[in-house]
Amino acid sequence: MGYKHYILICGGTACESNHGIELVEALKREVEAAGLVNTVQVVRTGCLGFCEKGPIVKILPEDTFYVEVKPQDAADIVNEHIIKGRTVTRLLYDTNQSKSRVGIEGIDFYQKQFRIVLRNCGVIDPDKIDEYIAREGYVALEKALFEMTPDQVLAELDKSGLRGRGGAGFPTGKKWAFAKVQKADQKYMVCNADEGDPGAYMDRSTLEGDPHSVLEAMTIAGYTIGASKGYVYIRAEYPLAITRLETAIAQARAYGLLGENILGSSFSFDIELRLGAGAFVCGEETALLASIEGRRGMPTPRPPFPAVKGLWGKPTVINNVETLANIPVILLKGGDWFAKIGTATSKGTKVFALTGKVKNSGLIEVPMGTTLREIIYDIGGGIRGGHSFKAAQTGGPSGGVIPEQFLDLPIDYESLAKIGSIMGSGGLIVMDETDCIVDVAKFYLDFTVDESCGKCAPCRIGGRTLCNLLTSITRGTGTLADIDRMREIADAMRSASLCGLGQTASNPVVSSLRYFLDEYQAHIVDKKCPSKKCKSLLSYRIDPLKCVGCTACARVCPVNAIRGERKQAHVIDTAACIKCGQCFTVCKFGAVSRD
Ligand SMILES: Cc1cc2nc3c(=O)[nH]c(=O)nc-3n(C[C@H](O)[C@H](O)[C@H](O)COP(=O)(O)O)c2cc1C
Ligand code: SF4
Ligand code: SF4
Ligand code: SF4
Ligand code: FES
Repeated sequence: MGYKHYILICGGTACESNHGIELVEALKREVEAAGLVNTVQVVRTGCLGFCEKGPIVKILPEDTFYVEVKPQDAADIVNEHIIKGRTVTRLLYDTNQSKSRVGIEGIDFYQKQFRIVLRNCGVIDPDKIDEYIAREGYVALEKALFEMTPDQVLAELDKSGLRGRGGAGFPTGKKWAFAKVQKADQKYMVCNADEGDPGAYMDRSTLEGDPHSVLEAMTIAGYTIGASKGYVYIRAEYPLAITRLETAIAQARAYGLLGENILGSSFSFDIELRLGAGAFVCGEETALLASIEGRRGMPTPRPPFPAVKGLWGKPTVINNVETLANIPVILLKGGDWFAKIGTATSKGTKVFALTGKVKNSGLIEVPMGTTLREIIYDIGGGIRGGHSFKAAQTGGPSGGVIPEQFLDLPIDYESLAKIGSIMGSGGLIVMDETDCIVDVAKFYLDFTVDESCGKCAPCRIGGRTLCNLLTSITRGTGTLADIDRMREIADAMRSASLCGLGQTASNPVVSSLRYFLDEYQAHIVDKKCPSKKCKSLLSYRIDPLKCVGCTACARVCPVNAIRGERKQAHVIDTAACIKCGQCFTVCKFGAVSRD
């Protein structure tokens, strides 16, 4: 018997960690208690993107979209929605809308999105290969194996204009072609699922929600370049993605889609997982290969490039998760179809992990060329808490800040590079006026210094020196000469570091100096932090005219720096104050000021 209703529950990490698993169990229990197991199917999907409002539940065929659903809402969903056909209004995304149902098409968050990579995330149960197959899964592989030569696959990729989504944006067809022409008894295909950028979770979510799309693409790559073995290099701290990949690999083998003589053809290919210990530098391709081989993950000079001399000295293609997830669709719909999406030089879509001070943070996919304003305001719902936009950081620690003047810039590889940032892998962090740009640059430098492998001096010493200079500026002990020094160090790091980590580590400093020099100067010359973030530069004071002597501040001060009698004006001993800000937070009379 067919099902009358499908209850889709987001099984992404964000929703699962917010009582999502209990919610699935509660819904299953309610469906069973109501005797509906034959007519209602409960499906755990991958991330629907709208993580801010999770856990998300979607009901088909009505396409009703419920947000912030708790396990205790399960009874209402089954009894009211499923049995009585009445929408549970209080769980709708926008309860002010008096519509009886609000489907995805009614939600602003999805309006400007276009899902290719995330086509199956939130739609299928990632643990069931049949659901992937029902959505044209593995049809591209079948087409490649039986209707196309490897050169025809390459031609389609070239036509599509697909470029690597791991950061550098190298044309995927070209990379595969280099590996294909190499003569070797063994070649390898590697998927880079390391994803260590702070704030980025695109690749992890794609693997959690649609692991087969990546396995299928890797197999197509294997066929194209002549590799019989593939590895997914994934960090061990992504347990859900790992389990889903393991299940997917086992199912693909059982269906003859991996292993010997795939689909009865003469082509054999198999995939194994390799777990990384969570070092950012292991995302760099030569370090990644060393790590797979069981050596310490340290970069080595290129050339030779992995496509010529990679794993165990054999030709190897390394591609990012998102790059791969595009490939089955390109083969099915054609390179020309794909090339129509996006801009002249950047084709297709880009997945971003939109985080920071936006109202709707989450995972989004937009055509290349969408502007930052559309992403932040139309999809992200604007800035949270009535604050104003200050800057956005793309490209994580290798990228740069984008100020307000570029909000209408269409986002693609070239335009971002022109203004001193990069596309990177897709972390997009939005800042408001309460964020300090110097502090943000220091955060990224802290990260890269921690993650540097230490092999070469420009990165090891330059990164540490930059970090120390930034720290000194945030503490009010910086000088104007430090700015010139930072620029010199940044130049040296860019030109003399061995790998991308050191070459790009200074980008957040360089770009913030370019657009927010006045903010650096305020820290150095005026000893003030305009966003009031840098603790050392703040001073707390009590206005005797506003203070009513309620004693609240004196009671919370951890170092007894506040003196005063009840019902009389209080005073802060600035020498004793450790600038924790608690008095500022508790004073209900606005008597405490901080400058
Ligand atoms: C320090 C560093 C970290 C990187 N981390 C990743 C990563 O986590 N995932 C990724 O796909 N590429 C990462 N890259 C880029 C890869 O080295 C490589 O260019 C990419 O995986 C190639 O795939 P693509 O052509 O599909 O983009 C990193 C590069 C550097 C220098
Ligand atoms: S640039 Fe940094 S991370 Fe890269 S090899 Fe040199 S020290 Fe290691
Ligand atoms: S909390 Fe405010 S009003 Fe109360 S004593 Fe402190 S400064 Fe005065
Ligand atoms: S900022 Fe903290 S330490 Fe300083 S006076 Fe207020 S409560 Fe005390
Ligand atoms: S994890 Fe549930 S919507 Fe993203």
